[in-house]
Amino acid sequence: MNVLITGGAGFIGSHVADHLLAMGCRVHVLDNFHSNYSREQKLLNIRSGMSHPAYYLHEGDIRDATRLTDLFRQNPFDVVVHLAALPGVQASLQRPDVYTDVNINGTRTLLNVMHQFGVRKLIFGSSSSVYGDHPAMPLQEDCQHLFPISPYALTKYKGEQLCRQYHEQYGMEITCLRFFTVYGPRQRPDMAIYQFLEAIRQQHPLTIYGKGTSRDYTYVADIVQGISKAMFRIDGFAIYNIGSGSYVSLRQLITLMESVSNQKALIIQKPDRPGDVAHTWADLTLSKQNLTYQPTTSLSDGLQQMVDWLASRNAQATLSYSS
Ligand SMILES: NC(=O)c1ccc[n+]([C@@H]2O[C@H](COP(=O)([O-])OP(=O)(O)OC[C@H]3O[C@@H](n4cnc5c(N)ncnc54)[C@H](O)[C@@H]3O)[C@@H](O)[C@H]2O)c1
Repeated sequence: MNVLITGGAGFIGSHVADHLLAMGCRVHVLDNFHSNYSREQKLLNIRSGMSHPAYYLHEGDIRDATRLTDLFRQNPFDVVVHLAALPGVQASLQRPDVYTDVNINGTRTLLNVMHQFGVRKLIFGSSSSVYGDHPAMPLQEDCQHLFPISPYALTKYKGEQLCRQYHEQYGMEITCLRFFTVYGPRQRPDMAIYQFLEAIRQQHPLTIYGKGTSRDYTYVADIVQGISKAMFRIDGFAIYNIGSGSYVSLRQLITLMESVSNQKALIIQKPDRPGDVAHTWADLTLSKQNLTYQPTTSLSDGLQQMVDWLASRNAQATLSYSS
């Protein structure tokens, strides 16, 4: 199977690429190495994939229709896993126009080129943020109203709507997956778990916002499992939650981090920030039933994996610095 992963040099995309290569797929990655974090970290993400003979890296922007046209003309893709986006709620508050351009216009450009070349199957990386501060928990895909409360969440909501439109208009087969806060090795450095674990390791104070928040945290291998299972079952148009199916409070998360790190956290408490939702908790009934999705990694095991990854990465950085 010939797969295109947009955003495949990023945190989630690079794990998807490794998994699909191991399954025998031919994997093409399109990524513009956006400066949301360092090119070096993204190159490290794809180091193992790049050494595989069935891995092809294409540097380029999803908004560049000419670049996409050339790519699709040269490669007969069976399916596209669309993960390229500007992620992150807080950064989107500062630059809403750029988020709209990349996440909505970029998605539309990709859908247009797919349609032009008759590539009919797409997985769209959506987000639990589309639910906003929804009152009914756990969050179900078919709930009555969505309340996106940040520019980022709105771009993901509109991305889903665009996918639905291309399904209705052209019969494209599209599955939108709403990921719930993803963590694990290669996590983006702007994300809370990464920042908290690094702060605890360096014994720097960590800042938490809002007192009563809780999240459904999902280990990246479970997200990859969800994407992979959805990829082989694309049928019509569908939306699924991909989460852990449980939640913890911020305080419980920090206690677990202290335990896996064997160090205490120094905490600075600040009020809620605009854009951050208070609670997330995925209802997995549909994804379990229709995709046979089943998350398997506990939060403490996943955090341990992440602590080990940060330690080995920091050790390598120290080694190369001193040599
Ligand atoms: N990490 C999470 O917790 C989470 C939760 C919900 C949804 N998501 C979604 O999953 C996807 C992947 O997220 P991630 O955490 O791996 O982020 P990431 O930033 O690590 O990966 C995104 C990749 O997209 C690339 N990119 C950005 N703009 C591009 C453009 N115009 N053209 C081509 N490539 C471009 C970036 O260089 C990056 O490598 C995103 O769509 C994100 O919105 C992530």
